[in-house]
Amino acid sequence: MIPDKERYAIRGGKEGYERLLLLARERWPETRALFQRAGLRPGMRCLDVGCGGGEVSLEMARLVSPGGSVTGLDMDEVKLGLARQAAVERKLSNVEFRTVNANEWNEPNGYDAVYARFLLHHLRKPVDLLRRMWAGVRPGGVLVVEDADFDGWCWDPPNDGFEFFLRTYRQVLLRSGGDHALGRKLFRYALEAGIPDPQLTVVQPQYTTVGGGKTLPWTTLEAVSEAILSEGLATPAELASALASLAQFLNDPHTLTSGPRIFQLWSKREATRA
Ligand SMILES: C[S@@+](CC[C@H](N)C(=O)[O-])C[C@H]1O[C@@H](n2cnc3c(N)ncnc32)[C@H](O)[C@@H]1O
Repeated sequence: MIPDKERYAIRGGKEGYERLLLLARERWPETRALFQRAGLRPGMRCLDVGCGGGEVSLEMARLVSPGGSVTGLDMDEVKLGLARQAAVERKLSNVEFRTVNANEWNEPNGYDAVYARFLLHHLRKPVDLLRRMWAGVRPGGVLVVEDADFDGWCWDPPNDGFEFFLRTYRQVLLRSGGDHALGRKLFRYALEAGIPDPQLTVVQPQYTTVGGGKTLPWTTLEAVSEAILSEGLATPAELASALASLAQFLNDPHTLTSGPRIFQLWSKREATRA
């Protein structure tokens, strides 16, 4: 059953920022390749919806220089404050961050490139946002979306903590109005939203080396601890035991884990004739 209210279930603020920094570092090579395929170039005015700590917005700001600019939107003011600070430290003056609820955002014809990563699977009405994102793209511009599908993870050898993480994360998302399986639906949703000829690629990270991206399942499970407990999905003892088991698994150089399957979609809007 779809809940009446939507809620972002992952702990935000400074801790959320640190988790997203790691995620952004891990994902950047494939996001950059996606931007190249989608034709991001200097001079473009870009939007990053649900930008989190703004790491991708800041990289976009470099890619569209000179002459281009980036606006990052998120509802987490703490992360946006840290993103503004990072922009100053990196001497990027062509990026701004605004506190906006994506469900209320609407700027038709506002941008040359409209982008969102890992936002749609948290929303109750992802097609609505896709429709507004497409409306936000000017003639000659492009829409770019990346989102995850959490059914596609694999890990070896078997581990109870990993199974607990995926089972409870899926339930937390469902109860918060999101959808753990959004990734595979992105193409269909784009068509429903009236987005023409969506192009699609699928990427899936894998990790063996201890540290870095291999820690993400643990940090994500830890960051939804409050939601797991408040929803009664596990007892504190079960959660602690799963975190310990997962930590042991991820700290072992002989184990392998993937990330989720990531669906990358883009569509270019035709330039109108003069
Ligand atoms: C998983 S993070 C992804 C952040 C960033 N796009 C990235 O890939 O690093 C999702 C972000 O969406 C934001 N978010 C969730 N629901 C939102 C909403 N309704 N309006 C604006 N931001 C939202 C959260 O605050 C969070 O920063």
